[in-house]
Amino acid sequence: MRIAILGGDGFVGWPTCLHLSAQGHEIHILDNLSRRWIDTELGVQSLTPMDSIQERCRIWKEVSGETIRFHLLDLSGEYERLKGWLTEHKPDAIVHFAEQRAAPYSMKTDRHKVYTVNNNVNATHNLLAAMVEAECDAHLVHLGTMGVYGYSSVGAAIPEGYLDVDIETLEGTKARQEILYPTKPGSVYHMTKSLDQILFQFYAQNDGLRITDLHQGIVWGTHTDQTRRHEQLINRFDYDGDYGTVLNRFLIQAAIDYPLTVHGTGGQTRAFIHIQDSVRCIELALGDAPEHGERVRIFNQMTETHRVRDLAELVSKLTGASIKYLPNPRKEAPENDLVVKNDQFLTLGLNPTTLAEGLLSEVVDVAKKYAHRIDRSRVPAVSAWTRDLGSRVERDPEGKALKSVS
Ligand SMILES: NC(=O)c1ccc[n+]([C@@H]2O[C@H](COP(=O)([O-])OP(=O)(O)OC[C@H]3O[C@@H](n4cnc5c(N)ncnc54)[C@H](O)[C@@H]3O)[C@@H](O)[C@H]2O)c1
Repeated sequence: MRIAILGGDGFVGWPTCLHLSAQGHEIHILDNLSRRWIDTELGVQSLTPMDSIQERCRIWKEVSGETIRFHLLDLSGEYERLKGWLTEHKPDAIVHFAEQRAAPYSMKTDRHKVYTVNNNVNATHNLLAAMVEAECDAHLVHLGTMGVYGYSSVGAAIPEGYLDVDIETLEGTKARQEILYPTKPGSVYHMTKSLDQILFQFYAQNDGLRITDLHQGIVWGTHTDQTRRHEQLINRFDYDGDYGTVLNRFLIQAAIDYPLTVHGTGGQTRAFIHIQDSVRCIELALGDAPEHGERVRIFNQMTETHRVRDLAELVSKLTGASIKYLPNPRKEAPENDLVVKNDQFLTLGLNPTTLAEGLLSEVVDVAKKYAHRIDRSRVPAVSAWTRDLGSRVERDPEGKALKSVS
């Protein structure tokens, strides 16, 4: 297939490009490299040394003989170019990663909220409108998040996107309806993913676009089979307080002898997936396209759930790192349960990689190798969700206030 990978320079995008290219697909990356600019804005860098996207593609060609093409394009701001590109290249499939994906970044200031909404919602809508205009009949696979469901404990498993409800009719009888599972986003970032769902529903119904939305859990790990093939194919690895995600951050903290920072009680339960399984799920989803006129196909792309404090204890046991409990900058329930259905991927043949399989130590080894690149002052998570928490304050690992963050 000819596959356009939007956001193919990112953490999940790059290994996905390599995985699909290794299977013989023709891969085109469309990316505006905004994630690299955000590193510059924040004064941080990936833990792992990343080459330019052009250099990464050159090395891949050398290693595999396969070509990955790169196109510098801003999905949210260059609608006409996007439409022209789709018209010219007519991809068979499109994988859409190209959004601002950090909840803490989206909550930093009003400017970051506005940027995240403009970037994410416009990127998705521009893509859908352009697909219709360009008569592009590609299967669109989008990376959404488990976070759209919210993390309240309702005592029932979270279904894969849809919920059957009974509504009382005017005659007093019950009418069965299938609705999108009600969203309860916990940040502006998660809100944009909730809005994406409505955009997909409309374009699938109105224009017959074939769309799969993957509600992904938190991705951990760094290497896949292809990124291991050459030092310069290495994946990006975020460790800072905005972009670093919980398990990867614990592993890095352990590697640099920094206490594992648990926010609140650590009773938050989250869904996880290893990066190798993430790329495999995308491959499986691509092979199972919906028909024209079918509702948006929604998969829960996660393999296990864990409480944050249990993860901290697991990493602490593995590495000897200490654990520090800090005030929670997020507005969320201190404790929640999370039971998630993921039957569809299991049925399609996913064989989940679990935390217990030695990959945790691999991440710690990568982190130790590149520990000299870490700026310890960028490790704390300082972005606060509300003004009233009194937590708009940068803290050291002991929880002591360092300075106010405006
Ligand atoms: N990383 C996770 O744990 C995780 C979990 C759940 C869902 N997701 C979703 O998966 C997708 C990829 O996540 P990631 O961790 O690889 O993020 P990332 O930030 O590393 O990559 C996103 C890529 O998209 C590009 N991009 C952003 N806006 C763009 C635009 N307007 N035009 C063109 N390119 C643009 C960026 O430059 C970057 O290369 C995101 O949509 C994210 O919401 C990620």
